[in-house]
Amino acid sequence: MVEIALKSKGKGGRSLSKLPSTLDVQPTQSVEDLYQKIGRLTGLGKDRLRLTLIDNTVLADGYDLEKYDLQKGSTVFVKDLGYQIAWRTVFLIEYFGPLIIHPFFYYLQKPIYGKEFEHTREQQTVLCFVLLHFIKREYESAFVHRFSNATMPLKNIFKNSGHYWLISGFNIAYWVYRPDSRPSIPDGIYYVASALWVYAEVSNYITHINLASLRPAGTKERKIPHGYGFNWVSCPNYFFEILGWFAICIISRSLSSVIFLIVSAVTMWAWAVKKHKRYRRDFAGKYPKNRKVLFPFLA
Ligand SMILES: NC(=O)c1ccc[n+]([C@@H]2O[C@H](COP(=O)([O-])OP(=O)(O)OC[C@H]3O[C@@H](n4cnc5c(N)ncnc54)[C@H](OP(=O)(O)O)[C@@H]3O)[C@@H](O)[C@H]2O)c1
Repeated sequence: MVEIALKSKGKGGRSLSKLPSTLDVQPTQSVEDLYQKIGRLTGLGKDRLRLTLIDNTVLADGYDLEKYDLQKGSTVFVKDLGYQIAWRTVFLIEYFGPLIIHPFFYYLQKPIYGKEFEHTREQQTVLCFVLLHFIKREYESAFVHRFSNATMPLKNIFKNSGHYWLISGFNIAYWVYRPDSRPSIPDGIYYVASALWVYAEVSNYITHINLASLRPAGTKERKIPHGYGFNWVSCPNYFFEILGWFAICIISRSLSSVIFLIVSAVTMWAWAVKKHKRYRRDFAGKYPKNRKVLFPFLA
């Protein structure tokens, strides 16, 4: 047994008023045990807490305390992350936005655009593709993904939903479903873009199934993914997501969808770089050397 010091960190000082100043721990005990114990002592539960060392290293679930070499007198900082919401619920809410916003702009032509008109083939296709995309995302969030975190801070729901409700919801829907007198895009381009969208969505789904198969249910295990798309890049699911929205940009010919594509691609690039570095760090020596980050054969 070693006695460690506990200190509260961040703005949650009051909520951590029950935090003891010291705690006896076994080096062989799991990090999860420590979270549970401090969650019980503070009355906040383990999901609201983040434990860090003096150098800001986060004590991560899935390891024993031995990994962090805690000595007598080592300080563990305890942060209250605030009210939590289930990770799955956040996804279900954020994807629900576009599912109601797109039909809203598509069907309420008179009140929104001031007249009744027939939608073009391209507008019908965008509505159909956007709805199918977000129904798929809802399905995957509920039944496919095996998330490692049960919850996230409640405030994230506003940030995350903003991305989907505003940029892929109101922004795309308002501009794409307005009266459009432009001639149709050539059939060849229309069918190739539609086929590209189907290919991208099916491929994205396959990569999600692959990721879910790496983690036994109820665990937080992480493994090196192989196979479809993963032999090219670390995050093929993001690559196929980008391809799908690229196809929608071609079909819609709307700056609004280009804006969503750019914001999404920049976000996914930043996440992919982090994931790629983490794979290389956690699986040093074993991680395939030629695997790119996000764009096959490029970067
Ligand atoms: N349009 C946009 O702006 C945008 C932005 C981001 C994502 N998306 C879409 O949302 C999808 C999901 O995004 P995401 O960021 O959650 O994807 P992700 O981080 O790749 O994770 C997908 C699922 O697989 C798990 N996972 C990832 N790597 C794993 C590994 N090596 N071993 C075991 N399990 C692993 C994740 O668990 P953890 O909980 O441990 O991470 C998560 O449950 C994307 O593929 C994309 O289609 C869209």
